[in-house]
Amino acid sequence: MTESIRTIGVLTSGGDAPGMNAAIRAVVRTALAKGLNVMGIRRGYHGLLREEIIELNGKDVADTIQRGGTILQTARSQQMRTEEGQRKAAGILKKYGIDGLVVIGGDGSFAGAQKLSDYGINVIGVPGTIDLDIACTEYTIGFDTAANTAMEAIDKIRDTSTSHERCSIVEVMGRDAGYLALWCGIANGAERILLPEQHGYDEQAMIDDIVENRKCGKKHYIIINAEGVGDSINMAKRIEEATGLETRATILGHLQRGGSPTVKDRVYASIMGAKAVELLIEGKTNRVVGYQHGEYIDFDINDALKMHKEIPEYQLEIAKML
Ligand code: F6P
Repeated sequence: MTESIRTIGVLTSGGDAPGMNAAIRAVVRTALAKGLNVMGIRRGYHGLLREEIIELNGKDVADTIQRGGTILQTARSQQMRTEEGQRKAAGILKKYGIDGLVVIGGDGSFAGAQKLSDYGINVIGVPGTIDLDIACTEYTIGFDTAANTAMEAIDKIRDTSTSHERCSIVEVMGRDAGYLALWCGIANGAERILLPEQHGYDEQAMIDDIVENRKCGKKHYIIINAEGVGDSINMAKRIEEATGLETRATILGHLQRGGSPTVKDRVYASIMGAKAVELLIEGKTNRVVGYQHGEYIDFDINDALKMHKEIPEYQLEIAKML
């Protein structure tokens, strides 16, 4: 064990994601099993800057693996984007004797962790976001649950859409990334998937296709629209006007972020959380945990933040073909 690591801190930051509790639980229980102390930092960096730091023991994480959200709460911190905030946060961690910090969140949270590493804090990032938009990993905690939640909601919308012979636009989350939209598009057999990565779409071609489909007797037309494309409400108005078909827009919103995590999210989160602690114990710091080609791996945090990720062309082709 690295001499310097005695106490590990853990926080969740940015948008919550189902499975974050499983990751916290794994961090706490792995650290305790290895004889370390664990401190929980509430409300992400926002709470860290306010010294909202509590000791965590095994019991504190009991009965949490099945719960959505994050028992530590989360927040987005503007102050942590400033040099002053970053220096202050590092000082607080040192004051509490936290010599290794596990940050569960997305790219923005990792950027904060990277800054802390510049001030000598040992950090490990664990990817937690429903957006699946972290480049160094094929998997992010929360994506599977969110995709399943959205898929079930879209199935229901399809029922009513078919009954009323309507066109339906369903907007799913994902910020600037289209992974949730693409996966739901494939899983729900949507007629159209609009993704921000495709930089615009041909609305007239889509309208022509809606009309054509109706002529062929299709009773619904489901468009999965990524949040990064947006404008679903106006899009529905334009489609209704152009086609004469009743069109409804549903923005699924934050319901996609809640709910009990799926088995996949629970297990990946447990392994990633445990791995984060193992890395600190091995003396590997300033790393981000990832999952690639069937293996759990880790990257230097600076390299991880420089990586780019594209939606696989093949998945786009499949979505179109089906
Ligand atoms: O990053 C997760 C996410 O849910 C995005 O999909 C979405 O754009 C954003 O967070 C919404 O953030 P907030 O909860 O602050 O409205």
